[in-house]
Amino acid sequence: MARILITSAIPYINGIKHLGNLVGSQLPADLYARYQRGRGNEVMFLCATDEHGTPAELAAAKAGKPVAEYCAEMHEVQADIARRFGLSFDHFGRSSSAQNHKLTQHFAGKLAENDLIREVSERQVYSNADGRFLPDRYIEGTCPNCGYDKARGDQCENCTKQLDPTDLIEPRSAISGSTDLEVRETKHLYLRQSALKDQLDAWIDSKSDWPVLTTSIAKKWLHDGDGLQDRGITRDLDWGIPVKKGEQDWPGMEGKVFYVWFDAPIEYIACAGEWAEAHGKSDAEWERWWRTDKGADDVRYVQFMGKDNVPFHTLSFPATLIGSGEPWKMVDHLKSFNYLNYDGGQFSTSQGRGVFMDQALEILPADYWRWWLLSHAPENSDSEFTWENFQASVNKDLADVLGNFVSRITKFCRSKFGETVPEGGAYGPQEEALIAELTTRVRAYEAHMEAMEVRKSAQELRAIWAAGNEYLQSAAPWTLFKTDPVQAAAQVRLGLNLIRLYAVLSAPFIPASSARMLEAMQTTDDSWPEDVAGALGVLAPGHAFTVPEVLFAKISDEDREGWQQRFSGVRS
Ligand code: MF3
Ligand code: ZN
Repeated sequence: MARILITSAIPYINGIKHLGNLVGSQLPADLYARYQRGRGNEVMFLCATDEHGTPAELAAAKAGKPVAEYCAEMHEVQADIARRFGLSFDHFGRSSSAQNHKLTQHFAGKLAENDLIREVSERQVYSNADGRFLPDRYIEGTCPNCGYDKARGDQCENCTKQLDPTDLIEPRSAISGSTDLEVRETKHLYLRQSALKDQLDAWIDSKSDWPVLTTSIAKKWLHDGDGLQDRGITRDLDWGIPVKKGEQDWPGMEGKVFYVWFDAPIEYIACAGEWAEAHGKSDAEWERWWRTDKGADDVRYVQFMGKDNVPFHTLSFPATLIGSGEPWKMVDHLKSFNYLNYDGGQFSTSQGRGVFMDQALEILPADYWRWWLLSHAPENSDSEFTWENFQASVNKDLADVLGNFVSRITKFCRSKFGETVPEGGAYGPQEEALIAELTTRVRAYEAHMEAMEVRKSAQELRAIWAAGNEYLQSAAPWTLFKTDPVQAAAQVRLGLNLIRLYAVLSAPFIPASSARMLEAMQTTDDSWPEDVAGALGVLAPGHAFTVPEVLFAKISDEDREGWQQRFSGVRS
């Protein structure tokens, strides 16, 4: 039994995520976690909310709530939606947890001990009216690059140029709008990533099986221009993890917190500690996932994220781990995604454009979305959600192919043989041919899932469903029944067993529907078909089943048009 640690990039706390966020990290991570559990491996699947930084503070201010209260509420909201989407985290943690405070301060202490932190005096914008510094998004102004007048201190949304707050023309406070600003000296900590450059370079080189897209991003940051830059890891904010060296105060850093991108990936580890606490387990039980000196040396660690997150996961976070000088488990495989666009434009949280997770579930059950999103995952290039495509996919793949198969075979059996698996004769050449084809396809499906090729896995699964349909179509037990009821019974027996097989294979994609299929077949045997022929004999003659309600309803043109209309604007 292999041990597999899986993390999904942790979503920002500020609001409900859209489908583009979902398909870029949490959903494919869930697919992989469910698959690995299905194969009998030991899985630890972790995710959390990313609760610090200016986005959290500004969203709380907008909601008129203290930031801690806002985060606690939004965490519950996100946890509930994740559960309803079938995201099977072993733990959904919070980057503001006590565990993360302790661990983040611990890492900072170790890095300081190893001379990898330097103190820098720098010039930052200070607002006299607000009585505080204005880092990142706390400041707005005109972009020096394109002239957009709502550019933020960290980036211009219009032209995407990365900015420094002091670059903005006619800057103003995002809190009060005040222009009574001045530049003041303030002290910050920098992580000396440049000193770790060679170690990071060698580590990236050791990952020969990583996609070029991933390694090239890392290599670019390592070698372009002056090479890997040191990085500020503190901010003048109230909300966050107070800057400390382990448990000790850090002279000169009073009132400052760590930068959100420093503590967020550390939450991957802290989350395992939260998991242990939530289940009354000892530290040793989470450490065996994360400490190579405590059992994690045989763990395979896989991360899932959108492409914008790659530099933080290939360089910054590894710099923290390597720099600590301690035996932390480092990532083995990193699966990154391009962007999903929405109907001719981009999904946008700030503009409320697209379909958000809560809205999606108001319209249709999670499996419809899971299937479309995963079968259209933006792997090799950006992909696009359109309502036409969504309708076509659901109606064809789910309703016509899988749903129809289940309904036809169960109903036919009920009408001719009753609600138990019929006996019938031995399988003939047609059945043997189907079993051979399915064996080949199941092995291909496994290989794609193992390689995290999400679209290819979906294609193969669809082909597995279609093979059953085609078999049924050509075997036509409803016709054969008139001349050879014994042989027709054997075909029905195979068909009913196929439903169980489909439930098991499909569970990573459409878990709720799979559960319903197993329930209809009145079995809890969800063992993986290592031997396809054997798996098609699990439901023995005489085994009782029920005819399930319609598994997937078709999307009508009327529905599609209504939704298209409803989601054409922006969410308020
Ligand atoms: N919250 C970030 C985002 O949505 C992801 C953080 S991933 C972690 O882009 F590594 F920092 F945890
Ligand atoms: Zn601009």
